[in-house]
Amino acid sequence: MKRRKILCAWACSLACLPALSQTALAAPPAGRLLASNCFQCHGTNGSGGVEKLAGKSASEIVKELKEMQLKSTPKMMDKHARGYTDAEINQLANYLATLR
Ligand code: HEC
Repeated sequence: MKRRKILCAWACSLACLPALSQTALAAPPAGRLLASNCFQCHGTNGSGGVEKLAGKSASEIVKELKEMQLKSTPKMMDKHARGYTDAEINQLANYLATLR
């Protein structure tokens, strides 16, 4: 009985470990890490917080963030937008545009 349990645990670890390590090693989609910052206020995956981001197109998000960067009396979101390079904005906008 005991031996069977050990055998079972051994077989299970052989079967499961490759799957687990693949999950851990798989690279996250580009832009997700940058966009995760937005979820603090805009809600997980861009909805459920202030202003819904999910469902917006990448070009809309890029346009809005770039306008915010140029505001002469920047408020919170405008200041936040200033922290990103053009490349980062494109990346996070492309990721956000995949969310519904
Ligand atoms: C600290 C909280 C906070 C974080 C973090 C934050 N936002 Fe915002 N965002 C706001 C608030 C509050 C508003 C609404 C007021 C305003 O426009 O200033 C807003 C507005 C917006 C709008 C305009 C929405 C509309 O429909 O008019 C966009 C686009 C936006 N945020 C994108 C982002 C993106 C992309 C990120 C991540 C890079 C982000 N925000 C991170 C608080 C935040």
